[in-house]
Amino acid sequence: MQALLILIGVAAVSAHLQELAFDGQKVFRVIPQHDEQVEIISSIGSNMQVDFWQPDSVTLVRPKMQVDFRVEADKSVEVEDLLKESGVEYRVLIDNLQAALDAQFDSKARIATHSYEKYNNWETIAAWTADIAAQNPNLVSRSVIGKTYEGRPMYLLKMGKSGTNKKAIFMDCGFHAREWISPAFCQWFVKEAVETYGKDTVMTTLLNHLDFYVLPVLNIDGYVYTWTNDRMWRKTRSKNAGSRCIGTDPNRNFNAGWCTIGASKSPCDSTYCGSAPESEKETKALADFIRKHLSTVKAYLTVHSYSQLLLFPYSYTYKLPPDYEELNSIARAASNQLASLYNTKYTYGPAAATIYPASGGSDDWAYDQGIKYSFTFELRDTGRYGFLLPESQIKPTCEETSLAVKYIANYVLEHLY
Ligand code: ARG
Ligand code: ZN
Repeated sequence: MQALLILIGVAAVSAHLQELAFDGQKVFRVIPQHDEQVEIISSIGSNMQVDFWQPDSVTLVRPKMQVDFRVEADKSVEVEDLLKESGVEYRVLIDNLQAALDAQFDSKARIATHSYEKYNNWETIAAWTADIAAQNPNLVSRSVIGKTYEGRPMYLLKMGKSGTNKKAIFMDCGFHAREWISPAFCQWFVKEAVETYGKDTVMTTLLNHLDFYVLPVLNIDGYVYTWTNDRMWRKTRSKNAGSRCIGTDPNRNFNAGWCTIGASKSPCDSTYCGSAPESEKETKALADFIRKHLSTVKAYLTVHSYSQLLLFPYSYTYKLPPDYEELNSIARAASNQLASLYNTKYTYGPAAATIYPASGGSDDWAYDQGIKYSFTFELRDTGRYGFLLPESQIKPTCEETSLAVKYIANYVLEHLY
């Protein structure tokens, strides 16, 4: 009888794992002033099961950098004491992660169907890709570019009025599993395209003369895992030989200065570069698709969160790209467009100098393939909610981001030949 009760107890606990796991966890923001304080952060990072939110790994922390990290409930008092003692400037960004987690789902739409103003699970997104194509046969078509590690089909939507010799813009979302606002944006952008075609003159011109390839979620296995097991998961879900740790960072897995800087060779790290470039089925599928369509794809956009940044190459080196001047002025204008709606401030620039150097990114890889207009978006916010952006911010975030994407697409269209 007692055994049975314990069994029932265990089942109940695991069913609520997701809901209870974050109670008492905190997110700290620190700004280490010099190497000595960087050392303190590093040692907290390696001794205390700390999850780095910004930058993506403890190894990327440098003096004067704003650093956000999440700490387990039972370690948070100790970490705070350590920070106090050491004199590192810090504040508590999120006092109880569970509260922020619950606050995500603040949208009034609590129906189980697809909604553009909710976070949709993968099943719902997958069904939506079929529906949106079926409902807009003259504008949208769906294909499969590969399968994920766990065998899920990777759906790609192609949007545009049919025509000959059309150039294209490629945009992906959902590289990093926990960045939920990213897939929400890809869905929103597709909706906006089909709803405003024939009404909005810019969108109409874009779709008449260009195609958009939209990959709503690249890292589908990871995304599913954030819904079922761990909201804070980042990487893919592939097994690593000789390690118990799971997953590779898809944005460290491309053949662009692969694993030379700002990436980890250890499978247990959040920025693990993988066993080789394109070792992940998901990154391989994306790279294969782009290689096959190099003659048409003129822009590559990849959508992450959070930090409100618009970045362009390079990340694997501090060297400026040959097209620096042009890319910088596009990023400036796109950021201004974005800010015109809700005054959301974006920082823009070449990624290594603007945030930190990190090799193996898809943006650098695409650029070196000859796709000049290569940009990474880091959407809202700047840390108030971080990866747990409330659903009530999906609409404004997507509206403003659409303005920037439309600006870039229009620029590309006007500079095709
Ligand atoms: N936070 C993103 C990442 O670390 C930034 C991407 C910038 N580009 C890059 N190639 N690192 O993946
Ligand atoms: Zn990311």
